[in-house]
Amino acid sequence: MKFNQICVLGLGYIGLPTASTFATHGVKVIGVDVNPQVVATLQNGGLHIHEPGLRTLVQAALKSGNLVISEAPQEADAFVIAVPTPFKTGRQDVRTSEGLDAFPPKADLSYVISAAEAIVPYLRRGNLVVLESTSPPATTTGLASEILERTGLKAGDDFHLAYSPERVLPGQILRELIENARVVGGVTQASSDAARDLYAIFVRGDIIQTTATTAEMVKLMENTYRDVNIAIANEFARLADRFGIDVWEAISLANRHPRVEILRPGPGVGGHCISVDPWFLVEAAPDLTPLIHTSRKVNDAQPQFVVGLVRRALDGELAGKKIAALGLAYKPDVDDLRESPAVDVVRLLMAEGAKVAAYEPFKLDADLPGIQLAPNLDSALQGSDLLLLLVAHTPLRQLIPGVVAAQTDARLVVDTVNLWDAPLWEQAGFTVVRLGVGQAGR
Ligand SMILES: NC(=O)c1ccc[n+]([C@@H]2O[C@H](COP(=O)([O-])OP(=O)(O)OC[C@H]3O[C@@H](n4cnc5c(N)ncnc54)[C@H](O)[C@@H]3O)[C@@H](O)[C@H]2O)c1
Repeated sequence: MKFNQICVLGLGYIGLPTASTFATHGVKVIGVDVNPQVVATLQNGGLHIHEPGLRTLVQAALKSGNLVISEAPQEADAFVIAVPTPFKTGRQDVRTSEGLDAFPPKADLSYVISAAEAIVPYLRRGNLVVLESTSPPATTTGLASEILERTGLKAGDDFHLAYSPERVLPGQILRELIENARVVGGVTQASSDAARDLYAIFVRGDIIQTTATTAEMVKLMENTYRDVNIAIANEFARLADRFGIDVWEAISLANRHPRVEILRPGPGVGGHCISVDPWFLVEAAPDLTPLIHTSRKVNDAQPQFVVGLVRRALDGELAGKKIAALGLAYKPDVDDLRESPAVDVVRLLMAEGAKVAAYEPFKLDADLPGIQLAPNLDSALQGSDLLLLLVAHTPLRQLIPGVVAAQTDARLVVDTVNLWDAPLWEQAGFTVVRLGVGQAGR
């Protein structure tokens, strides 16, 4: 199939690089976003998200005249939907294992619905529609197809419809978009072929064809696999704590087995993918997913386990204690705080009366209701009783224990990510507690 004009709906971390990359490969692209601020920013040559290299790419796409930013779709040969698919819990405060049972999260497909509805007036015979948003199984053949068929056209017969998951790594999106293997799943073979032709415009990795629902499952299985494996690492950390051994040593020894690869424990699992996507499978088939459900609960309960470690380090008393929480992002060296377990740890500590000064080196001014962000490391450290390391950020790795000792009265460190060299910190006068290291293991 040939593509002269492509319409991309949703200009976030996925949609904007995708639209710009099509445009720099010579195709006319209408980039659509319902957020007027996003549209205005892009039309004025600005950028509303941070991703290395993206500014240059977007500017090149706009300058070529191939990329046009708009609040509404137009007729096109292909429509690509890259809108958010978060989850909704019905309540904000349920990220504890008990709360999650009472209010299990559900996929929020409202953005996919409104994007598909927005396409309806412009969809013509022979067009291709691709859903890229991470979605529950059978969303393409079900919900998306039903909405698009309001045109009177039939999916698979009159227009092509496919699902293609996005697997790019934030920080590496521009390179991975082009180089990663791409799975395309059509509702018919002809739809798969059309989707293959679309991505062949810029993808240099393999383009692998399958069915729409298989393609949806591939994405959900990838993230669920990681979630379940992190959950077992977190349980190993709890067991090591109880049995007085060092889980980090035990994992490195277990991983010498040629067919074992245990992941790293930590304060929990966050971000908008791994901590969200497994719920789509639990919601879709609760009777078939006890392991996936339990893993979600284990990882969501891990912040509470960290609070227990901190309480124990402070001899059972959290109320009134000043804690410097270092790192708030959901993973190292990013500024993304979505679903971050570090933020949950801070909230749980505050709920127990601790005074928390939170410092996030990659985001100094985040809007987190109720949480006071320290403007710099110095002010977080001043007057603290305990340093709580929550994210393995490079700038935190580089801290020198002797220098930190001069900036704070705290002589207690809780390291939840095994980042710091405990003997070095102990030489500088700190008592170091590490997640997953029981008393006898220290
Ligand atoms: N960011 C990632 O690293 C990543 C990786 C893999 C998959 N995904 C998936 O890709 C999808 C998009 O994620 P993202 O990170 O790009 O989201 P994002 O929040 O960065 O951007 C989504 C954009 O869509 C816009 N939007 C919402 N409804 C719209 C509509 N009806 N029409 C047009 N625009 C609309 C929003 O205003 C926003 O600008 C999600 O399903 C996500 O799970 C993301």
